[in-house]
Amino acid sequence: MRSIYCGAVTSANIDQEITLCGWVDRRRDHGGVIFLDLRDRDGIVQVVFDPDSAEDFARADKVRSEYVLKVVGKVRARSAATVNPNMATGEVEVYGTTLEILNNAETPPFQLDGHIHVGEDVRLHYRYIDLRRQEMQHNLRFRSKVTTFIRNFMDDEGFIDIETPILTRATPEGARDYLVPSRTHDGKFFALPQSPQLFKQLLMVSGFDRYYQIAKCFRDEDLRADRQPEFTQIDIETSFLNEDDIMSITERMIRHLFNDMMSVDLGDFPRMPYSEAIAKYGSDKPDLRIPLVLEDIKDLMAEVDFKVFSGPANDPKGRVTALKVPGGNDLLSRKQIDDYTKYVSIYGAKGLAYIKVNDKSDLENGLQSPIVKFLPNDVRAAILERVAANNGDLIFFGADSHKVVTEALGALRCKLGADLNLFTCEWAPLWVVDFPMFEEIEGGLTPLHHPFTAPSCRPEELLANPAEALSRAYDMVLNGTELGGGSIRIHDQNMQQAVFNILGINEEEQREKFGFLLDALKYGAPPHGGLAFGLDRLIMLMTNSHSIRDVIAFPKTQTAACVMTDAPGAVGSSQLRELHIRLREKPQA
Ligand code: AMO
Ligand code: AMP
Repeated sequence: MRSIYCGAVTSANIDQEITLCGWVDRRRDHGGVIFLDLRDRDGIVQVVFDPDSAEDFARADKVRSEYVLKVVGKVRARSAATVNPNMATGEVEVYGTTLEILNNAETPPFQLDGHIHVGEDVRLHYRYIDLRRQEMQHNLRFRSKVTTFIRNFMDDEGFIDIETPILTRATPEGARDYLVPSRTHDGKFFALPQSPQLFKQLLMVSGFDRYYQIAKCFRDEDLRADRQPEFTQIDIETSFLNEDDIMSITERMIRHLFNDMMSVDLGDFPRMPYSEAIAKYGSDKPDLRIPLVLEDIKDLMAEVDFKVFSGPANDPKGRVTALKVPGGNDLLSRKQIDDYTKYVSIYGAKGLAYIKVNDKSDLENGLQSPIVKFLPNDVRAAILERVAANNGDLIFFGADSHKVVTEALGALRCKLGADLNLFTCEWAPLWVVDFPMFEEIEGGLTPLHHPFTAPSCRPEELLANPAEALSRAYDMVLNGTELGGGSIRIHDQNMQQAVFNILGINEEEQREKFGFLLDALKYGAPPHGGLAFGLDRLIMLMTNSHSIRDVIAFPKTQTAACVMTDAPGAVGSSQLRELHIRLREKPQA
């Protein structure tokens, strides 16, 4: 139908007759001349109709926003006074000769350039209109270019793209499963995959050696700005490679991707042990763009006459930590400090003590703080030395369980970085390594990654002291976001059973849930390992989007619903009967 996209018309087309198809972005009537901004996926061009072609002019007069048109016209230069430098096609316009209305449109629920004035629920309800916006068009085209790049990269590196099932058994990654009832097996359910983890391991047992897949994953978990119940992984698995090899391939992929798509050189990614990330940054995904670091002062607080600090200082599970904000005295008002105190309470912190360093040479009167009265001078001096304080600095303190202090001050560090714009660079990638195998929870241990991750110690050591064991896992972190995670896997049946035992999964349950894996490990499983990236998060970072929903065509809301199709929806009684399901309560009409 068309000869050229609207957004592609330039001075090179002057004097050519062209045919355009698109949507009316705006219509303006300038006393006898009608201007139509016609829009398609490539951009917008201005079309002018004057009364010389009476019928077409009359039709142009009738059109409204979002009508779908076919326009034939001649490209001409705009006069110097009317050139629009803000528009890619701003040097030209199309003198329209024929206008055909392909479809009309009701008044849209929101103007494309007024989308910020409506709630996100309205945008998601009319997502097909929202996706017409340039930002969304750009994000989804960018996403398509990224997946093309990744497919080419993986193909060049000898990886084979293999699909794995969506209707499957539980694949434990720490979230709740989405379940699908079976019609043919009364009372039984499929689970949607939380990741293709076990299938990709089995593909290694089958000898494919290098697998990748751009795979849909499903997790029923609490949603945040960077989480969706249904999301996409770039899933990778290899045989006979160690962690250095796998990190090297995947780091190269991300580095080349940033270079190719954005001319950004990410450089070599540093590696940081998990213990250092938690100690210095209060996070297993530290944002290294922010120069603030936590300094533990547990040793200094053991003797002080202030229970809030001495309590956790003497508790093996406690943590007492300082966070210095250079120049913070002038940067932060009393009200802001109160706001930060409220902020850390989200993470369970019961307060946020601080010291303003007015004059560090005067320990008696130079420190302004609600807690300094509890601290003898030698402790005051030791704190100032520990954090290398200067006059004008503000030091925050956290004292509580290790978990609360780490989470609260880790989050505070990031919030201060963003609020005070402390970023020292645009991109800060790193690998976090040497994770513990397990995390203590009430009633036992739970895997920090997933239960198929290999320990970095021998089986005897693992069994003797599981809580202390480290794993062969690695996470790629970019700007404080976990982009991807992976590990070398257990390929020995006994080791796999030992880990299940540590996790309190008894033999019967092991057989019932993972019998197929344990069997496969008996029939010649090669040493193997891999990694999975969160594609949506990657695109979100690359496009500098605020929400993961802005890089997904049809995302779910915060309550895991689709407001456009009204899913999840009620199901009729006959369908439920077929699925052998009886609801406990009648769904409300
Ligand atoms: P993991 O659970 O760390 O590892 O997931 C890998 C990556 O997927 C992304 N991700 C998500 N993105 C959006 N919404 C979510 N709800 C969500 N959950 C995870 C993150 C994360 O880094 N099978 C292992 C990988 C492996 O060991 O090879 C796995 O799934 O960016
Ligand atoms: P209080 O003695 O409760 O008035 O607290 C004195 C100061 O210590 C206040 O600035 C509180 O915000 C702070 N504070 C109280 N509990 C903690 C805590 N667990 N960690 C850090 N600071 C705290």
